[in-house]
Amino acid sequence: MNLSERDQQVVWHPFTQMKTAAPSIAIARGSGACLYDDKGLKYIDAIASWWTNTHGHAHPYIAKMISEQASTLEHVIFADFTHEPAVRLAERLLGKLPAEQARVFYTDNGSTSVEVGLKMCFQYWFNIDQPKKKIIAFKDAYHGDTFGAMSVGGRNPFSEPFAPFLFDVEFVDTPTKENEVTILEHFTKLAETGEIAGFIFEPLILGSGGMLMYSAKLLDQLFEICSKHNIITIADEVMVGFYRTGKFFATDHCKNKPDIYCLSKGLTGGTMALGVTTCNSKIYDAFYSDNKLKTLFHGHSFTANPIACAAALASLDLFEENETISNIQRIINQHDKFIEKISIYPNVRNIRQTGVILALDIVTETETSYFNSVRDQIWKFFISKRIILRPLGNTIYILPPYCITVEEMEVVYQAIIDFVTELSN
Ligand SMILES: Cc1ncc(COP(=O)(O)O)c(C=O)c1O
Repeated sequence: MNLSERDQQVVWHPFTQMKTAAPSIAIARGSGACLYDDKGLKYIDAIASWWTNTHGHAHPYIAKMISEQASTLEHVIFADFTHEPAVRLAERLLGKLPAEQARVFYTDNGSTSVEVGLKMCFQYWFNIDQPKKKIIAFKDAYHGDTFGAMSVGGRNPFSEPFAPFLFDVEFVDTPTKENEVTILEHFTKLAETGEIAGFIFEPLILGSGGMLMYSAKLLDQLFEICSKHNIITIADEVMVGFYRTGKFFATDHCKNKPDIYCLSKGLTGGTMALGVTTCNSKIYDAFYSDNKLKTLFHGHSFTANPIACAAALASLDLFEENETISNIQRIINQHDKFIEKISIYPNVRNIRQTGVILALDIVTETETSYFNSVRDQIWKFFISKRIILRPLGNTIYILPPYCITVEEMEVVYQAIIDFVTELSN
């Protein structure tokens, strides 16, 4: 049996209907923006392996730092103990975040960074003796798969079996160019009830919802409403952090800043599982007390894992190199040129770009949803060309590692053109 066949006997994959899914492709190694399967075939990873990878696969510098840390201190309980990589990483992240951000709380993935953000928010109100239960979120939001994160995500077939167990959330429409005024009106009405504990959002781009983009100007207006009504703002930068939008954090595009940041994915350059939730002193001070009951009672076995922290520090080093920043700008410029080319195809609509993320929708006759049959068609087409472009329904998007070469980008663009051409024939 080959690896894919052995896998089929024993593994249960995420987001996968195991009965109908094709055998998983066995990946043996990675280098730069490419992955190589067990037969040595090369694939261009145009979606950075679930939006995690920033500097390329098996990056030698990150690998070296991971290896050094693994042979120095691989793990230690993070209650009552601390270690150099966690402290240095917190110092460096706070150096990148707005000055008001005061503390870094470690978790181990994006969903748990969101859980902590929500807990900080609810417990803030509890600790100051003004309990509030309501959160505002966008209708197409995705914040992860744990129960709290699912609760604040858009309700859809993915969360349906769990609907009775999800807490109530006030959903506002996902922003489009046309509905900003209505959103602001709805948001203001909700804020004026005085019952809202917090607002959680993916800044500028709702990722899993379909790479739906909205303006920093609208987000700034929402921040202002929150500030007026003392609503805690939680920026879920899990996907958009670490230069995906062209700036270090997506909220760097805004004048106003959130109270809480949730980070993961690109935090370690996409190499290790790690999450952080940061907050300003307004939040922190509500927990800082002689009263033990005001403690944030949350933690994970692998909270602040030293190897993951070392990977994150190595990734931050690489972000300081001019080459990384010029690569990011180069991808943005290349996207601009591709947008001109692809715009002429009638079966493509809603071409949109923020930073290195470019998305477009394929016009289909049937309803647009994740389960649209064109989704499978898109996946099969690109994988046959050995390009990893895993669509969201009928939405094709590119979100590459920053080290992707000009030539690899051209291969991806040409494949998209070939796909839409083939579709119209
Ligand atoms: C915006 C956002 N938040 C949270 C998550 C959850 O992260 P994780 O898959 O690491 O739990 C994701 C994952 O895609 C995400 O895109």
